[in-house]
Amino acid sequence: MIDIKNKWALVTGSSRGVGRRVSMALAEKGCKLIIHARTLEATREFLSEFRASGAEAHAVAAELGSADAIDGLIRQVKDITDNQLDILYNNAAIMTRYQPVFAPTYDEYQLSFMVNTIAPAKLCDAFIPAMLENNWGRIVNVTSGIADQPQLMAYSCSKAALDRYVRDMVPTLKDTNVLMNLLDPGWLRTDMGGDQAPNHPDSVIPGALVPVLLDKDGGSGVLYNAQNFKEGQ
Ligand SMILES: NC(=O)c1ccc[n+]([C@@H]2O[C@H](COP(=O)([O-])OP(=O)(O)OC[C@H]3O[C@@H](n4cnc5c(N)ncnc54)[C@H](OP(=O)(O)O)[C@@H]3O)[C@@H](O)[C@H]2O)c1
Repeated sequence: MIDIKNKWALVTGSSRGVGRRVSMALAEKGCKLIIHARTLEATREFLSEFRASGAEAHAVAAELGSADAIDGLIRQVKDITDNQLDILYNNAAIMTRYQPVFAPTYDEYQLSFMVNTIAPAKLCDAFIPAMLENNWGRIVNVTSGIADQPQLMAYSCSKAALDRYVRDMVPTLKDTNVLMNLLDPGWLRTDMGGDQAPNHPDSVIPGALVPVLLDKDGGSGVLYNAQNFKEGQ
């Protein structure tokens, strides 16, 4: 496994759930963290915990349903890191309400695609070129194993489009040390997953870090399932 000490990492949606666990695990590995939520208030307590533990951490706020806010987030992260972001963990997402088949509205499709597909794609577009220049980068796009649930169609289609972004970028990243992969965290008892989910949110670690810790030969375009990796394995 590679050493990621002092690497700059942005984890979107890190105020709670999966993103929070991933941020903590990256900080434990010595990364310099940029945590993100829709408001700075949502990151305040977590940021203090990080700083109290001695980790270098910054917080940024952006509503990923807004193109202007995504652009603002990109500018802030470039400023903080001097355009040297090493690890991009595209985790933030929304899930539309469970509803009758054929019922999603235009707004639900549009917002789902903006937050879950377009925002991560634009973050990749913004940061991968400098990673390629540096010949080092790790990008993880969080997807979902959701299947056969047309009641959540806007969500599942937006994740399928994100999967496609990763797959079609594989030739561009081939033979470089910039790797982009997908993570399915499994069904978890987070705010999104609800209390019927079988897995505790802590169970995403260590699996969620596997696509970050790959060496160059690990390659891109692979789907990792966090629940396949257990502590100590
Ligand atoms: N939980 C599951 O069972 C499950 C299963 C498969 C895949 N996933 C995927 O895992 C990832 C994390 O899910 P989770 O369960 O940890 O979700 P969560 O507990 O609902 O947390 C969502 C995070 O995303 C941020 N966020 C939500 N809407 C946003 C928006 N419009 N703009 C910017 N940030 C926004 C939230 O920030 P605020 O604090 O500001 O709201 C929060 O930090 C997602 O990509 C999800 O699709 C989850």
